[in-house]
Amino acid sequence: MKLNIAVLPGDGIGPEVTKQAKKVLEAIAYQFNHTFIFKEALVGAIAIDKTGEPFPQKTLDLCLNTDAVLFGAIGDPKYDNDPSAKVRPEQGLLKMRKDLGLFTNIRPVKAYTQLLDKSPLKREIIEGADMTIYRELTGGIYFGKKHISNDGKTASDLCEYHEFEIERIAHSAFKAAKNRRKKVTLVDKANVLESSRLWRKVVTKIAKKYKDIKLEFLFVDNAAMQMILNPTQFDVILTSNLFGDIISDEASVIGGSIGLLASASVGEKYAVFEPIHGSYPQATGKGIANPIASILSAAMLLEHFGLLEEATLIHSAVEKSLELQISTPDINKKSKFSTTKVGDFIADFIENPDDSNINYHNIHIGQSTII
Ligand code: IPM
Ligand code: MN
Repeated sequence: MKLNIAVLPGDGIGPEVTKQAKKVLEAIAYQFNHTFIFKEALVGAIAIDKTGEPFPQKTLDLCLNTDAVLFGAIGDPKYDNDPSAKVRPEQGLLKMRKDLGLFTNIRPVKAYTQLLDKSPLKREIIEGADMTIYRELTGGIYFGKKHISNDGKTASDLCEYHEFEIERIAHSAFKAAKNRRKKVTLVDKANVLESSRLWRKVVTKIAKKYKDIKLEFLFVDNAAMQMILNPTQFDVILTSNLFGDIISDEASVIGGSIGLLASASVGEKYAVFEPIHGSYPQATGKGIANPIASILSAAMLLEHFGLLEEATLIHSAVEKSLELQISTPDINKKSKFSTTKVGDFIADFIENPDDSNINYHNIHIGQSTII
């Protein structure tokens, strides 16, 4: 298969982790005889520095003319500490989501057997947890009318949803549940919010078309508690933009590190694949950022194009790295493995999946990965 892939490394650790994901995709191309053509463009704070815009027209044009986008991270402390900044890196990400119509954000979360003791949650609570969050991405309070009064003392953000916005993501969530454990949990705040009541009404109507799928409802406050009390109850979680943002960060604790969580943002025509972690400025350039979230986002990209065997191989390589503790310090505090070394191991494994000659002892003393 030939794929044109736009690479938007962005800020902070974005470039470091994206480089590893690209390396892994190159290993897949080599192993399976695909052609992946990568083109880079600017986004985020670095794009503001160079062009004055967080998502320049040139970047949009590239995204509109490629098969998929591999996104790194955006954000810089110089904007976080300045609420009066008129142009912010986050606007670039939101503009990209809106301009490309990426209304469905898919965030898979699972407890890896190899990492059960790395999570701050007890092993017996997280063991077997495996869920996918379907977060609505181009509507709700993120994109509703914003207002600040002239005296600067009153502000508001409108949370508005239209029926069609709920319908299209609900269909995606129910379809996903068909291939999983056949359960959808709608997370909302229907006891208080009118927009949540619309979600319940629309999702209940759609559920009738998916007779084999069980639909449950949870208020978001309860869902936040259930997520750490009994996460194995969840299969597919369907929710609005803001609730999905919050609950997916919370869910990342189950996996042991936010550095493991990948995501896909898809619409009718375009798709972007990105780690859910941010730009982690404190780690920039230190070689300690976990590349796995970006690498697994690349696996989601392959799945999106039906390259399932390829995606499975990436998953096996990642699991092998976790099993052998070839991990960055977020997973293993005493780790000697850098971002690049983890990426090298995963790419090597892909190019030599049946190679029983990998010298695991040498890996840990920092020598060559293959004898
Ligand atoms: C995410 C991020 C973004 C969001 C920020 C950076 C705007 O937190 O992708 O989850 O809130 O959607
Ligand atoms: Mn977030």
